[in-house]
Amino acid sequence: MEHFIPYGRQWIDEADIKAVESVLQSDYLTQGPVIAAFEDKLREITGAKYCVAVSNATQGLHIAVAALELDEGTEGITTPNTFVASANCLLTNNFVPVFADIDRRTYNISPEEIEKKITTKTRVVIPVDFAGQAVDIDSIKQIADKYQLVIIEDAAHAIGSKYADGMPVGCCHKADMTVFSFHPVKTITSGEGGAVTTNNEDLYKRLLKLRTIGITKDESELSQNPGPWYYEVQCLSGNNRMTDIQAALGLSQLSKLAFFKQRRREIAERYNAVFKDIPYIVTPYEEKNVDSCFHLYVLQIDFKKIGKSRKQVMNEIKEKGIGVQVHYIPVNSQPYYVEKYGKYNADEYPEAEAYYQRCLSIPLFPKMSDSDIEYVEVMLKNIITPLVS
Ligand SMILES: Cc1ncc(COP(=O)(O)O)c(C=O)c1O
Repeated sequence: MEHFIPYGRQWIDEADIKAVESVLQSDYLTQGPVIAAFEDKLREITGAKYCVAVSNATQGLHIAVAALELDEGTEGITTPNTFVASANCLLTNNFVPVFADIDRRTYNISPEEIEKKITTKTRVVIPVDFAGQAVDIDSIKQIADKYQLVIIEDAAHAIGSKYADGMPVGCCHKADMTVFSFHPVKTITSGEGGAVTTNNEDLYKRLLKLRTIGITKDESELSQNPGPWYYEVQCLSGNNRMTDIQAALGLSQLSKLAFFKQRRREIAERYNAVFKDIPYIVTPYEEKNVDSCFHLYVLQIDFKKIGKSRKQVMNEIKEKGIGVQVHYIPVNSQPYYVEKYGKYNADEYPEAEAYYQRCLSIPLFPKMSDSDIEYVEVMLKNIITPLVS
Protein backbone atom coordinates (compact mmCIF):
# COMPACT_ATOMS: atom_id res chain seq x y z
CA MET A 1 0.00 0.00 0.00
CA GLU A 2 1.52 3.31 -1.04
CA HIS A 3 -0.16 5.79 1.22
CA PHE A 4 -1.69 4.68 4.49
CA ILE A 5 -3.76 7.28 6.38
CA PRO A 6 -3.65 6.42 10.11
CA TYR A 7 -6.31 7.62 12.57
CA GLY A 8 -3.79 9.98 14.14
CA ARG A 9 -0.16 10.96 13.87
CA GLN A 10 2.38 13.62 14.74
CA TRP A 11 3.61 16.49 12.56
CA ILE A 12 7.33 17.07 13.02
CA ASP A 13 9.00 19.92 11.11
CA GLU A 14 12.55 21.26 10.75
CA ALA A 15 12.17 23.58 13.75
CA ASP A 16 11.31 20.58 15.95
CA ILE A 17 14.34 18.68 14.69
CA LYS A 18 16.63 21.68 15.31
CA ALA A 19 15.26 22.10 18.84
CA VAL A 20 16.00 18.45 19.67
CA GLU A 21 19.41 18.65 18.01
CA SER A 22 20.42 21.65 20.10
CA VAL A 23 19.67 19.72 23.31
CA LEU A 24 21.65 16.74 22.01
CA GLN A 25 24.63 19.06 21.60
CA SER A 26 24.16 20.72 24.99
CA ASP A 27 25.41 19.75 28.45
CA TYR A 28 22.09 18.43 29.75
CA LEU A 29 20.12 15.64 28.15
CA THR A 30 17.94 15.42 31.24
CA GLN A 31 17.30 17.52 34.39
CA GLY A 32 18.45 20.58 32.44
CA PRO A 33 16.98 24.00 31.63
CA VAL A 34 14.61 22.97 28.82
CA ILE A 35 12.33 21.16 31.28
CA ALA A 36 11.72 24.45 33.11
CA ALA A 37 11.18 26.29 29.79
CA PHE A 38 8.61 23.67 28.75
CA GLU A 39 6.85 23.89 32.10
CA ASP A 40 6.84 27.71 31.93
CA LYS A 41 5.25 27.59 28.47
CA LEU A 42 2.58 25.17 29.71
CA ARG A 43 1.88 27.49 32.65
CA GLU A 44 1.54 30.40 30.23
CA ILE A 45 -0.86 28.47 27.96
CA THR A 46 -3.03 27.05 30.73
CA GLY A 47 -2.75 29.87 33.26
CA ALA A 48 -1.93 27.37 36.05
CA LYS A 49 0.44 28.47 38.78
CA TYR A 50 2.55 25.29 38.80
CA CYS A 51 3.48 22.65 36.25
CA VAL A 52 5.45 19.40 36.57
CA ALA A 53 6.59 17.74 33.32
CA VAL A 54 6.63 13.94 33.57
CA SER A 55 7.58 10.88 31.52
CA ASN A 56 4.02 10.25 30.30
CA ALA A 57 0.41 10.88 31.37
CA THR A 58 0.04 7.39 32.84
CA GLN A 59 2.74 8.23 35.39
CA GLY A 60 1.39 11.79 35.69
CA LEU A 61 -1.96 10.36 36.80
CA HIS A 62 -0.22 7.92 39.13
CA ILE A 63 1.75 10.63 40.95
CA ALA A 64 -1.25 12.98 41.00
CA VAL A 65 -3.21 10.33 42.92
CA ALA A 66 -0.17 9.53 45.10
CA ALA A 67 0.21 13.22 45.97
CA LEU A 68 -3.16 13.12 47.75
CA GLU A 69 -1.69 10.84 50.43
CA LEU A 70 -5.04 9.16 51.09
CA ASP A 71 -5.74 5.91 52.92
CA GLU A 72 -5.62 2.53 51.21
CA GLY A 73 -9.08 1.49 50.05
CA THR A 74 -10.17 5.03 49.22
CA GLU A 75 -12.60 5.09 46.29
CA GLY A 76 -12.14 7.18 43.18
CA ILE A 77 -14.76 7.70 40.48
CA THR A 78 -13.93 7.78 36.79
CA THR A 79 -15.49 7.03 33.42
CA PRO A 80 -15.62 3.66 31.64
CA ASN A 81 -15.07 5.48 28.33
CA THR A 82 -11.36 6.16 28.64
CA PHE A 83 -7.90 4.74 28.25
CA VAL A 84 -7.15 2.39 31.14
CA ALA A 85 -4.61 4.79 32.69
CA SER A 86 -7.45 6.98 34.09
CA ALA A 87 -8.53 4.09 36.32
CA ASN A 88 -5.23 2.22 36.72
CA CYS A 89 -3.80 5.22 38.60
CA LEU A 90 -6.24 4.43 41.42
CA LEU A 91 -5.24 0.77 41.51
CA THR A 92 -1.50 1.51 41.44
CA ASN A 93 -2.07 3.58 44.61
CA ASN A 94 -4.13 0.82 46.30
CA PHE A 95 -7.34 2.77 45.82
CA VAL A 96 -10.57 1.36 44.43
CA PRO A 97 -11.81 2.49 41.00
CA VAL A 98 -15.55 3.06 40.69
CA PHE A 99 -17.18 3.82 37.35
CA ALA A 100 -19.96 6.28 36.52
CA ASP A 101 -21.81 6.20 33.21
CA ILE A 102 -21.30 8.77 30.45
CA ASP A 103 -23.46 11.50 29.02
CA ARG A 104 -25.25 10.38 25.85
CA ARG A 105 -24.24 13.42 23.82
CA THR A 106 -20.72 14.39 24.92
CA TYR A 107 -19.49 10.86 25.82
CA ASN A 108 -17.93 12.47 28.91
CA ILE A 109 -18.67 11.30 32.45
CA SER A 110 -22.13 12.37 33.58
CA PRO A 111 -22.12 14.53 36.75
CA GLU A 112 -25.46 13.01 37.86
CA GLU A 113 -23.99 9.53 37.53
CA ILE A 114 -20.95 10.57 39.59
CA GLU A 115 -23.23 11.65 42.42
CA LYS A 116 -25.02 8.28 42.38
CA LYS A 117 -21.71 6.44 42.90
CA ILE A 118 -20.46 8.42 45.91
CA THR A 119 -19.98 6.48 49.16
CA THR A 120 -18.38 7.36 52.50
CA LYS A 121 -15.07 6.12 51.03
CA THR A 122 -15.10 8.35 47.94
CA ARG A 123 -12.40 11.02 47.96
CA VAL A 124 -11.41 11.51 44.33
CA VAL A 125 -13.08 12.03 40.99
CA ILE A 126 -11.12 11.65 37.74
CA PRO A 127 -13.13 13.09 34.85
CA VAL A 128 -11.67 12.73 31.34
CA ASP A 129 -11.96 15.38 28.60
CA PHE A 130 -12.89 12.77 26.02
CA ALA A 131 -11.73 13.45 22.44
CA GLY A 132 -10.68 16.93 23.54
CA GLN A 133 -14.07 18.17 24.75
CA ALA A 134 -13.78 19.59 28.26
CA VAL A 135 -15.98 17.96 30.88
CA ASP A 136 -18.82 19.82 32.60
CA ILE A 137 -16.36 21.07 35.19
CA ASP A 138 -18.84 23.42 36.92
CA SER A 139 -21.25 20.61 37.78
CA ILE A 140 -18.41 18.30 38.79
CA LYS A 141 -16.94 21.00 41.02
CA GLN A 142 -20.32 21.53 42.72
CA ILE A 143 -20.51 17.82 43.51
CA ALA A 144 -16.85 17.77 44.63
CA ASP A 145 -17.51 20.66 47.03
CA LYS A 146 -20.67 19.05 48.38
CA TYR A 147 -18.89 15.76 49.19
CA GLN A 148 -15.35 17.12 49.72
CA LEU A 149 -13.81 15.33 46.80
CA VAL A 150 -10.57 16.13 44.99
CA ILE A 151 -10.75 16.55 41.21
CA ILE A 152 -7.91 15.16 39.09
CA GLU A 153 -8.81 16.02 35.52
CA ASP A 154 -7.45 13.64 32.91
CA ALA A 155 -6.86 16.07 30.05
CA ALA A 156 -4.66 13.67 28.08
CA HIS A 157 -6.79 14.57 25.02
CA ALA A 158 -7.28 18.24 25.72
CA ILE A 159 -4.22 20.47 25.56
CA GLY A 160 -5.49 23.65 23.85
CA SER A 161 -9.16 23.05 24.66
CA LYS A 162 -11.38 25.45 26.61
CA TYR A 163 -14.18 24.98 29.11
CA ALA A 164 -17.64 26.43 28.48
CA ASP A 165 -16.64 29.55 30.47
CA GLY A 166 -13.76 30.24 28.08
CA MET A 167 -11.00 29.27 30.52
CA PRO A 168 -8.23 27.01 29.20
CA VAL A 169 -8.18 23.35 30.22
CA GLY A 170 -5.36 22.94 32.71
CA CYS A 171 -5.90 26.30 34.42
CA CYS A 172 -7.10 24.40 37.51
CA HIS A 173 -9.77 26.97 38.40
CA LYS A 174 -12.02 24.03 39.34
CA ALA A 175 -9.81 20.93 39.15
CA ASP A 176 -7.15 20.38 41.83
CA MET A 177 -4.76 18.90 39.28
CA THR A 178 -4.87 18.42 35.52
CA VAL A 179 -2.86 15.83 33.61
CA PHE A 180 -1.82 16.13 29.95
CA SER A 181 -0.33 13.58 27.53
CA PHE A 182 2.09 14.32 24.72
CA HIS A 183 2.05 10.93 23.02
CA PRO A 184 2.46 11.25 19.21
CA VAL A 185 -1.25 10.88 18.44
CA LYS A 186 -2.09 13.79 20.77
CA THR A 187 -2.43 17.43 19.71
CA ILE A 188 1.24 18.16 20.41
CA THR A 189 3.94 15.60 21.10
CA SER A 190 7.20 15.14 22.96
CA GLY A 191 7.58 11.52 21.80
CA GLU A 192 6.42 10.20 25.14
CA GLY A 193 5.57 12.76 27.78
CA GLY A 194 3.06 14.35 30.08
CA ALA A 195 2.54 17.15 32.56
CA VAL A 196 0.56 17.86 35.72
CA THR A 197 -0.68 21.39 36.43
CA THR A 198 -1.99 22.68 39.77
CA ASN A 199 -2.51 25.91 41.69
CA ASN A 200 -1.83 24.24 45.03
CA GLU A 201 1.71 24.71 46.34
CA ASP A 202 1.61 21.70 48.67
CA LEU A 203 0.51 19.40 45.86
CA TYR A 204 3.18 20.92 43.61
CA LYS A 205 5.92 20.16 46.13
CA ARG A 206 4.71 16.58 46.53
CA LEU A 207 4.52 16.14 42.76
CA LEU A 208 8.13 17.30 42.43
CA LYS A 209 9.25 14.68 44.91
CA LEU A 210 7.10 11.96 43.39
CA ARG A 211 8.57 12.74 39.97
CA THR A 212 12.08 12.03 41.25
CA ILE A 213 12.11 8.86 43.37
CA GLY A 214 10.67 10.62 46.41
CA ILE A 215 13.81 12.76 46.71
CA THR A 216 14.04 16.42 47.68
CA LYS A 217 17.02 18.77 47.77
CA ASP A 218 14.85 21.76 48.70
CA GLU A 219 16.57 23.26 51.79
CA SER A 220 13.26 24.37 53.27
CA GLU A 221 12.06 20.75 53.32
CA LEU A 222 15.17 18.96 54.67
CA SER A 223 15.15 17.64 58.24
CA GLN A 224 18.88 18.52 58.48
CA ASN A 225 21.36 20.11 56.10
CA PRO A 226 24.93 18.96 56.65
CA GLY A 227 26.26 20.14 53.26
CA PRO A 228 25.76 20.65 49.53
CA TRP A 229 25.80 16.89 48.79
CA TYR A 230 22.78 16.25 50.96
CA TYR A 231 19.34 15.14 49.82
CA GLU A 232 16.55 13.21 51.47
CA VAL A 233 14.17 10.48 50.37
CA GLN A 234 10.89 11.52 51.96
CA CYS A 235 8.43 9.24 50.21
CA LEU A 236 8.44 6.19 47.95
CA SER A 237 8.34 6.78 44.21
CA GLY A 238 9.86 5.79 40.89
CA ASN A 239 11.66 7.84 38.28
CA ASN A 240 8.92 9.70 36.43
CA ARG A 241 11.07 12.36 34.78
CA MET A 242 10.84 13.70 31.25
CA THR A 243 14.17 14.26 29.47
CA ASP A 244 15.29 17.63 28.06
CA ILE A 245 15.31 15.99 24.62
CA GLN A 246 11.58 15.35 24.95
CA ALA A 247 10.93 18.76 26.49
CA ALA A 248 12.69 20.49 23.55
CA LEU A 249 10.37 18.72 21.12
CA GLY A 250 7.35 19.52 23.29
CA LEU A 251 8.32 23.18 23.58
CA SER A 252 8.81 23.54 19.85
CA GLN A 253 5.47 21.79 19.23
CA LEU A 254 3.65 24.08 21.68
CA SER A 255 4.50 27.06 19.47
CA LYS A 256 2.25 25.43 16.84
CA LEU A 257 -0.60 24.48 19.20
CA ALA A 258 -3.02 27.14 17.88
CA PHE A 259 -2.38 26.10 14.28
CA PHE A 260 -2.75 22.39 15.07
CA LYS A 261 -6.02 23.04 16.86
CA GLN A 262 -7.39 25.22 14.08
CA ARG A 263 -6.57 22.58 11.46
CA ARG A 264 -8.11 19.83 13.59
CA ARG A 265 -11.30 21.86 13.97
CA GLU A 266 -11.35 22.57 10.24
CA ILE A 267 -11.15 18.85 9.43
CA ALA A 268 -13.87 18.08 12.01
CA GLU A 269 -16.13 20.66 10.37
CA ARG A 270 -15.56 19.13 6.96
CA TYR A 271 -16.45 15.69 8.27
CA ASN A 272 -19.52 17.10 10.04
CA ALA A 273 -20.77 18.60 6.79
CA VAL A 274 -20.47 15.24 5.01
CA PHE A 275 -21.78 12.90 7.72
CA LYS A 276 -24.24 14.91 9.80
CA ASP A 277 -27.37 14.27 7.74
CA ILE A 278 -26.86 10.54 7.30
CA PRO A 279 -29.60 8.90 9.41
CA TYR A 280 -27.58 5.90 10.63
CA ILE A 281 -24.62 8.04 11.75
CA VAL A 282 -24.20 10.31 14.77
CA THR A 283 -21.51 12.99 14.39
CA PRO A 284 -19.66 14.47 17.40
CA TYR A 285 -21.67 16.86 19.54
CA GLU A 286 -19.87 19.90 20.90
CA GLU A 287 -21.41 21.50 23.99
CA LYS A 288 -22.33 25.18 23.56
CA ASN A 289 -19.31 27.49 24.12
CA VAL A 290 -16.95 24.56 24.61
CA ASP A 291 -13.94 24.91 22.34
CA SER A 292 -12.45 21.45 21.75
CA CYS A 293 -9.04 20.75 20.22
CA PHE A 294 -10.62 17.66 18.57
CA HIS A 295 -8.04 15.08 19.52
CA LEU A 296 -10.39 12.46 18.04
CA TYR A 297 -13.24 12.48 15.55
CA VAL A 298 -15.65 9.75 16.59
CA LEU A 299 -18.65 8.65 14.57
CA GLN A 300 -21.39 6.50 16.04
CA ILE A 301 -22.55 4.13 13.33
CA ASP A 302 -25.64 1.95 13.47
CA PHE A 303 -23.94 -1.17 12.15
CA LYS A 304 -27.21 -3.15 12.20
CA LYS A 305 -28.80 -0.62 9.86
CA ILE A 306 -25.95 -0.77 7.38
CA GLY A 307 -25.94 -4.58 7.45
CA LYS A 308 -22.25 -4.96 8.28
CA SER A 309 -20.39 -5.62 11.51
CA ARG A 310 -17.84 -3.12 12.80
CA LYS A 311 -15.13 -5.68 12.18
CA GLN A 312 -16.20 -5.95 8.55
CA VAL A 313 -16.26 -2.16 8.15
CA MET A 314 -12.83 -1.82 9.78
CA ASN A 315 -11.35 -4.47 7.50
CA GLU A 316 -12.85 -2.90 4.37
CA ILE A 317 -11.58 0.54 5.32
CA LYS A 318 -8.13 -0.81 6.07
CA GLU A 319 -8.02 -2.37 2.61
CA LYS A 320 -8.49 1.14 1.25
CA GLY A 321 -5.43 2.35 3.20
CA ILE A 322 -7.33 4.06 5.99
CA GLY A 323 -6.77 3.48 9.71
CA VAL A 324 -9.70 3.64 12.12
CA GLN A 325 -9.87 2.82 15.82
CA VAL A 326 -12.29 2.18 18.67
CA HIS A 327 -12.11 4.62 21.61
CA TYR A 328 -12.79 3.00 24.06
CA ILE A 329 -13.51 -0.51 25.27
CA PRO A 330 -15.19 0.14 28.67
CA VAL A 331 -12.29 -0.03 31.15
CA ASN A 332 -14.26 -2.02 33.72
CA SER A 333 -14.91 -4.77 31.16
CA GLN A 334 -11.16 -5.48 30.88
CA PRO A 335 -10.19 -8.97 32.15
CA TYR A 336 -7.98 -7.59 34.93
CA TYR A 337 -10.87 -5.52 36.32
CA VAL A 338 -13.35 -8.36 35.96
CA GLU A 339 -11.01 -10.72 37.79
CA LYS A 340 -10.57 -8.21 40.60
CA TYR A 341 -14.10 -6.83 40.94
CA GLY A 342 -16.33 -9.48 39.40
CA LYS A 343 -18.35 -9.67 36.24
CA TYR A 344 -18.77 -6.48 34.19
CA ASN A 345 -22.45 -5.66 34.10
CA ALA A 346 -23.10 -3.77 30.87
CA ASP A 347 -26.63 -2.90 32.05
CA GLU A 348 -25.11 -0.69 34.76
CA TYR A 349 -23.52 1.54 32.11
CA PRO A 350 -26.16 1.71 29.36
CA GLU A 351 -24.80 4.86 27.73
CA ALA A 352 -21.14 3.81 27.71
CA GLU A 353 -22.15 0.39 26.41
CA ALA A 354 -24.45 1.71 23.64
CA TYR A 355 -21.74 4.14 22.64
CA TYR A 356 -19.06 1.42 22.63
CA GLN A 357 -21.12 -0.79 20.31
CA ARG A 358 -21.28 1.96 17.71
CA CYS A 359 -18.17 4.13 17.96
CA LEU A 360 -15.48 4.43 15.33
CA SER A 361 -12.69 7.04 15.30
CA ILE A 362 -11.75 8.09 11.78
CA PRO A 363 -8.49 9.80 10.73
CA LEU A 364 -7.95 13.27 12.16
CA PHE A 365 -4.54 14.88 12.36
CA PRO A 366 -3.32 18.29 11.14
CA LYS A 367 -1.00 16.96 8.45
CA MET A 368 -3.86 15.31 6.54
CA SER A 369 -4.05 16.89 3.11
CA ASP A 370 -7.36 18.05 1.67
CA SER A 371 -7.25 15.11 -0.73
CA ASP A 372 -6.66 12.70 2.22
CA ILE A 373 -9.77 14.11 3.89
CA GLU A 374 -11.83 13.76 0.75
CA TYR A 375 -10.56 10.23 0.20
CA VAL A 376 -11.59 9.22 3.72
CA GLU A 377 -15.03 10.81 3.25
CA VAL A 378 -15.69 9.08 -0.08
CA MET A 379 -14.36 5.66 0.95
CA LEU A 380 -16.15 5.64 4.28
CA LYS A 381 -19.42 6.76 2.76
CA ASN A 382 -19.19 3.97 0.18
CA ILE A 383 -18.37 1.30 2.73
CA ILE A 384 -21.10 2.24 5.18
CA THR A 385 -23.91 2.79 2.73
CA PRO A 386 -26.60 0.22 3.62
CA LEU A 387 -26.73 -2.77 1.31
CA VAL A 388 -30.54 -2.61 1.34
CA SER A 389 -32.33 0.61 2.18
C1 LIG B 1 -7.55 9.57 28.46
C2 LIG B 1 -6.12 9.16 28.57
N1 LIG B 1 -5.53 9.20 29.77
C3 LIG B 1 -4.23 8.85 29.93
C4 LIG B 1 -3.48 8.43 28.86
C5 LIG B 1 -2.06 8.00 29.09
O1 LIG B 1 -1.19 8.80 28.36
P1 LIG B 1 0.31 8.38 28.08
O2 LIG B 1 0.31 7.59 26.81
O3 LIG B 1 1.02 9.70 27.92
O4 LIG B 1 0.80 7.62 29.24
C6 LIG B 1 -4.05 8.37 27.59
C7 LIG B 1 -3.25 7.91 26.45
O5 LIG B 1 -3.70 7.63 25.39
C8 LIG B 1 -5.41 8.75 27.43
O6 LIG B 1 -6.01 8.69 26.24
